[in-house]
This record gives sequence, structure tokens and C-alpha cells, in this order.
Amino acid sequence: MTGDVLVQVKNLTKSFRTGGGLLHAVDDVSFEIMRGETLALVGESGCGKSTLGRLLLRLIPATSGSVFMDGKELTALKGEALRQARKEMQLVFQDPYSSLDPRKTIRSIISEPLRAFKIPKNEQETILADLAENTGIPQEFLNRYPHELSGGQRQRVGIARALALRPKLIVCDEPVSALDVSIQAQILNLLNDLQSSYALTYLFISHDLSVVRYLANRVLVMFLGKICEIGSAEEIFSHPHHPYTHFLLAATPTLDPHQSVDDMETLGGEIPSPIHPPSGCRFHTRCPYACEKCRTEEPVLTTGEGTSGYACHYPL
Ligand SMILES: Nc1ncnc2c1ncn2[C@@H]1O[C@H](COP(=O)(O)OP(=O)(O)OP(=O)(O)O)[C@@H](O)[C@H]1O
Ligand code: SF4
Ligand SMILES: [Mg+2]
Repeated sequence: MTGDVLVQVKNLTKSFRTGGGLLHAVDDVSFEIMRGETLALVGESGCGKSTLGRLLLRLIPATSGSVFMDGKELTALKGEALRQARKEMQLVFQDPYSSLDPRKTIRSIISEPLRAFKIPKNEQETILADLAENTGIPQEFLNRYPHELSGGQRQRVGIARALALRPKLIVCDEPVSALDVSIQAQILNLLNDLQSSYALTYLFISHDLSVVRYLANRVLVMFLGKICEIGSAEEIFSHPHHPYTHFLLAATPTLDPHQSVDDMETLGGEIPSPIHPPSGCRFHTRCPYACEKCRTEEPVLTTGEGTSGYACHYPL
């Protein structure tokens, strides 16, 4: 980590219009991603992780707020300027199968971004060979089709394609969740190796904290569209300040091999609706420490920019 900011997110909000009313998927979120780091984004299903990842990559438009990359405001770009900016940021999906065109060969899939950006043909071959080698795809696989590959091999293809244009930022959205546990470590190791050789910055989305622990430098915890806590992985895993972070960790059995299922504290209660989020602290309906203030006053993140901090009136 060199300590300079690659991505700056300011007051980013995304609401979806639904039959039941406005759904606040990401609600006034501000934080930074440092160049060369892995920032893990964690939280329960539906808290807005994928929406936030897609907003960063400008795959969906924001309702309000802004995203800066290397000082350039992505949220203000249009047309060709946006297309060029897209080279610098890529997405690796959870399910590589559904994101790979079944009618195309692996060669054609990996080199698709090179064709889209009109990289000369002779260079394409060299880049392709390097990508295959660096992601552990044997040359003979290049003429095969996605269905002829295993899940792990397909994820290597998804990663190779994401690397083709030498992006600065990769959003990995649950990149190993669909894979067998035995294959997960291989892909995580690959992502780790590629990070240094390609000078990558990762936003690593996962609901699995044991996976996050493996490679995160910092962790951002979300609940119902808001940041609960952000901080170094060391700090978050050893001294969480926000009760929600604490319960997420306590509910992750693999973190402590001596812990039995009986010892695990469970995170009770239903996740409230993002259409009608609770007043005050959004976690108050599930928080054992909730007081009157929590029901009426929304806690603010202790650092405005969100390098590290928490949003709780009564931190642990
Ligand atoms: N296109 C859409 N239209 C309406 N609502 C949406 C849309 N996309 C996402 N949502 C809603 O926004 C909220 C956040 O969804 P999102 O997919 O970002 O969550 P997530 O944290 O990635 O969940 P998971 O862990 O299940 O992948 C959810 O309530 C979801 O139903
Ligand atoms: S603000 Fe109150 S309800 Fe919210 S997490 Fe902190 S103690 Fe719990
Ligand atoms: Mg998701």
C-alpha cells in the first residue's frame, strides 16, 4: 500500500423505484480506496454491496453523490470519455459461467476487450499468451468453450478477461462464493499474486468473513445501505467498535477453530425493509444495546471521509 487515494466516494446514493416505494439500496455513503489495497465490502444479503460495486464502475447511474478515480469524476463522464475510463476498472463476477458467452471460445472471450479497444492484432496475441500464463490457463484451453472448463478454470478466464486492458481497479463481487471450498483458496491466491504483478486495487465483495480475512487490508461493513464501520482488517477482526460488526464476526464459525456452534452468538431479528428503514440507527431493531437515542438520532460515521471509523452512539 502506498497510501495515496485511488477512489474517492462522496455521499453516494442509489434508490430504486419499486412497486412498494423508493428502495434505498445505497444511502449517502462516503469512503476512500487506497491505491494498491484490498478493501473488503461485507454485510448480509441485500445490504447494497453489489449495487455499490456497480455504482463505482458506473455500470448503473447514481441517484446522487459522486465517485472520483485518480481525481477524475467518473459520475460526470459521458460518451467516449466514459468508455475510456472503463478501461481502468473492471468487474469479476460471482458466477463466471453466466458471465461467459457459451458460444465463444476462451481465446475469443479473453481477447474481447482487446478487440473492443482496437488493440493491434499482433499485440493481441502476445497479451493473450501473457494473460493465460499469468492466470494459470493452459494454452490448449484457449480453443475450448466455457462448458468444457471447471468452475475454477472459468473463474480464471473471467479474471484474465478483466485484466486484459490493465485496469487499476477491480471490483470482485463474491468471486469465490460459487466455487468448491478446495478451489476457493487457489483463486484467492491467484488474486493475491495478480495484485502485485499487475499493481491492482481491489474492492472485494463478500458475505464470507473467513474469505475476507485471507486477503483484506481494510474492511468496510455495510448494513441496509449505510456504512456501519470501516477500518484496517486487523482492527476490525480484533476490536470491532460497531455492534453489527461484532455480531457478523461472532456468527462466522471458521474464524476460531476452538469455537463450538453453541458458543456462537447469533444475529437475531429480521433485516428491516430498505423501503422503510428504521428511524435513527438502522440497526436498532436488532441491536441488544439500543437505547432511546438510537431510535431517534442517526449516528454519523466518526470520520467523514471514512478512512476508518464507525457509526454508533454506544460503540463497543
Ligand atoms: N435493479 C433493482 N431494482 C430494484 N431493487 C434492486 C435492484 N437491484 C438491487 N435492488 C435492491 O437493492 C438492495 C441491495 O441489493 P444488492 O444486490 O446491492 O445487495 P447485496 O448486498 O449485493 O446482496 P447479496 O449479498 O445477496 O448479493 C436489495 O434490497 C435489492 O433487492
Ligand atoms: S447506535 Fe445504538 S442501536 Fe445502533 S448499533 Fe449503536 S448501540 Fe446499537
Ligand atoms: Mg450482491
